[in-house]
This record gives sequence, C-alpha cells and structure tokens, in this order.
Amino acid sequence: MEFVKFFNKWLHLMSMIGVLGGIIFAWLSLRKAAKSDDPAAGEFLRPILRTFGISLGVFWIVALLTGFYNYFIVMGSVTGAYHMYAGIKMMLAILMFLISLYMAHPGSGDVPALKKRFNWLVALIVLGVMIVGISAHLNLSRISGAYIKQPAEALAAPVP
Ligand code: HEM
Repeated sequence: MEFVKFFNKWLHLMSMIGVLGGIIFAWLSLRKAAKSDDPAAGEFLRPILRTFGISLGVFWIVALLTGFYNYFIVMGSVTGAYHMYAGIKMMLAILMFLISLYMAHPGSGDVPALKKRFNWLVALIVLGVMIVGISAHLNLSRISGAYIKQPAEALAAPVP
C-alpha cells in the first residue's frame, strides 16, 4: 500500500512537471515564432503544437487520475479547512485543464488561430503557479498536523 501511495504521488508530480514545464517552455521559447508575421513561422509552429497538444493531453489524464487518487487517500484524515483548499485547487485545476484543451486542440488549424492561442499560455502559467502553491500548503499543513483531524478523545479531554 505504501508503494502504491508513493508511486501515485510520484506520477502526480511527474505529470504536473510535464504539464507546467511544457507550458512554460512553449511560452518562453516558441512565443517569438508565434508573434512573427512570417508565414514560415506559422508552418514551423503547426507540427510542434500538434505534438505539444498530444503530450499535454496524456500528462493531464495522468495528473487528474493521480490527483483524485491522492485526494481519496487523505480525505478521511483531514479537516474541513483542508477540504476547502483542496476544493479551490480542484476548481482551478479543472479550469486549467479546460483552457489547456482549448489551447492545444488543433481546431481549424489555420495559422492565425494557432498564434492567437499563445495568449492563453500566460493564463495557464498563472493558474499552474497558484495550484502548486496551494498544493505545497496542503502538504505542509498535513505534515505539521494543522489540517489533520484530532482523535475524538483528544477533543473531548478537558483543557488543562
Ligand atoms: C483535480 C486535479 C487534482 C487533484 C484532485 C489533486 C490532488 C492532490 C492532492 C490530494 C495532493 C496531496 C496534498 C497533500 O500532501 O496533502 C496533491 C499534491 C500535489 N499536487 Fe495535485 N491535484 C490535482 C491537480 C494538480 C495540478 C493541476 C497541479 C499543478 C499545476 C498539482 C500539483 C501538485 C503538487 C506540486 C503536489 C505536491 C505537493 C507536495 O506533496 O508537496 N496538482 N494533489
């Protein structure tokens, strides 16, 4: 069981590195080509964005499945505050997933449309940074015990 938890967490982190790393790379490195008026730049981008879209889809499927399993593992032992932050994280993650789908889907595939989608990369990076921050908070608050449910006996005990 410990190995399954470890493997799931490892996959979750690897897939999120794939999603966010790919998006940051695309924004940093391909933005110049996307802004160029040269038709050759558009033709250069088309196959790259296709491969990028497919890899993003695979990483997202793994990230969502492992994320929900992560949540399933901890949900019984955590407080309402944890669930609230986890809920915010899930909503942001689903929004990020939907924007990624729009951004990476080939659609009509014409070059101006492909280039226009680059603007969405900034929104995806902002969402990704917020989600990683919330995730770190969730993890640390569990390690510190702040968001861990206390045993009933501890709550019922008189305050010294
Ligand atoms: C609906 C989708 C998702 C769900 C249900 C989910 C759920 C979880 C849960 C329950 C944890 C464990 C937190 C803890 O240790 O208490 C976790 C860890 C993590 N998640 Fe997600 N996640 C999702 C999507 C994402 C996304 C989109 C990102 C990044 C953009 C992300 C980044 C992380 C990171 C970096 C951690 C590790 C935190 C740590 O252990 O230090 N997750 N996730």
